[in-house]
Amino acid sequence: MPGVYNMGIITKNSIGLENVKAVYSGAEGQLWERIMGEQIHIGGLTSSMDLAAKAGIAAGTVGVDLCCCTGAGMRFLLRFQKVAHMTGVDATARMVETGCERCQAEGFSKDQVEFVLGNACATGLYPASKNFVWGEDAWCYVEDKTQLIAEAARLVKSGGTIAFTDWVTGPVEMSDAEAQRFLSFMKFPNMASIADYTALLEANGCEIVHAENTGRFAPCIDLYLDMLNKQLTYDALKIIGFDMEMMQGLGGEMVFVQQLAHESKLVQGLFVARKK
Ligand SMILES: C[S@@+](CC[C@H](N)C(=O)[O-])C[C@H]1O[C@@H](n2cnc3c(N)ncnc32)[C@H](O)[C@@H]1O
Repeated sequence: MPGVYNMGIITKNSIGLENVKAVYSGAEGQLWERIMGEQIHIGGLTSSMDLAAKAGIAAGTVGVDLCCCTGAGMRFLLRFQKVAHMTGVDATARMVETGCERCQAEGFSKDQVEFVLGNACATGLYPASKNFVWGEDAWCYVEDKTQLIAEAARLVKSGGTIAFTDWVTGPVEMSDAEAQRFLSFMKFPNMASIADYTALLEANGCEIVHAENTGRFAPCIDLYLDMLNKQLTYDALKIIGFDMEMMQGLGGEMVFVQQLAHESKLVQGLFVARKK
């Protein structure tokens, strides 16, 4: 598909950070949280625990969550992995505000967790200052994935870990029309494959420990559609102002995503890399 892929990354729309911020400042972001829970990523806690185990996230370490949203991933790491400190970077003010409130409500102190409102590609944080960089199903929203991985590699100490999951293209290629429809619905500027992320990590001085398809994507999309159709219909409608037409449109696009998932055109990738 000439023109659609640039080193395997689909790059053909005009969606940028402002569109993504609009999603997470408004009803669409609330809808994702209602369907997926506080951890807005495929597989929720199971996925976080899998990633932490594969990355060997140890007690007492210091990390940064790039695109942390409301910081559910950071609270997981503080609570269950006993990490010493987390810094969360997110570009959407509303997510950062909610995140600060939730951290306070759950009893985490400012010595344990801080939020930075900004672009994950240029955090302004000190270089080589973190034991690990963390990300969960969010880097798909970032336009400049080359810069994002470079920033992750800049932040992590030598011997430290970059660990993330993300929505990536699967082994079966989407058609041009499918790619455009999917990216527009999701407000993704582009999408990487497992091979793309592997190459970017290696180009930034990292050794790959895991780069794999979790197999969780399609069953989770089935689950979200079931929840929407069988239990949360009223709640979802309320978030979008009881607009039935919009609900049908969103439902149709979710079914389209489900189809792509079952055709192995979309998967959740899991990556663990060590900075040399
Ligand atoms: C799907 S949510 C992240 C979910 C979160 N990791 C979790 O597991 O709960 C995507 C988040 O990425 C943020 N985001 C997208 N692009 C960004 C960028 N370039 N810099 C910082 N944050 C960004 C959005 O504001 C949003 O809060």
